[in-house]
Amino acid sequence: VTDGRIAGISAAIRVIPDFPKPGILFQDITTLLLDPKAFKDTIDLFVERYKDKDISVVAGIEARGFIFGPPIALAIGAKFVPIRKPNKLPGEVISEEYSLEYGTDKMEMHVGAVQAGERALVIDDLIATGGTLCAAISLLERVGVQVVECACVIELADLKGRDRLGDRPLFVLVSSI
Ligand code: PRP
Repeated sequence: VTDGRIAGISAAIRVIPDFPKPGILFQDITTLLLDPKAFKDTIDLFVERYKDKDISVVAGIEARGFIFGPPIALAIGAKFVPIRKPNKLPGEVISEEYSLEYGTDKMEMHVGAVQAGERALVIDDLIATGGTLCAAISLLERVGVQVVECACVIELADLKGRDRLGDRPLFVLVSSI
């Protein structure tokens, strides 16, 4: 994205080496949240992009999709649906397993939160391998929801997670290594 606000957003993201494991450069959006201008610019950029796209669902991925998703949903007049780690949602759920570097993980969504034919935006703070976004897309598509686009604040471009999303568009504000 070429927009004057991007530089401020990028500068407000703190990079912490060796977290949570040695060799990982952790992209920490908590410092973005401490900067009201950069945080507002982040939300505004997404709202400007999605406000006239007939989106009725903003699906946010645990945990940091729960920070960025709700203000976007409120601003565009959509509902917010949390996509959660296993055994967190109290009602009936559908689950989608996905592979990690070692082993598997799972994401869940409440049955009845969305209806077939709805149009969704999927939001998270960051895409790395793309496994998490893929699982969220599958949950929505399995119940007949159209994923219009996935949006993240940060993309770790070298990991090529974008390629796993197939033909679902991915929109990111900041691309990083
Ligand atoms: C991070 C990030 C995404 C996911 C991306 O979450 O917030 O949700 O990883 O990785 P992927 O593209 O390789 O699937 P994390 O695993 O840190 O979990 P948390 O949000 O619960 O802290």
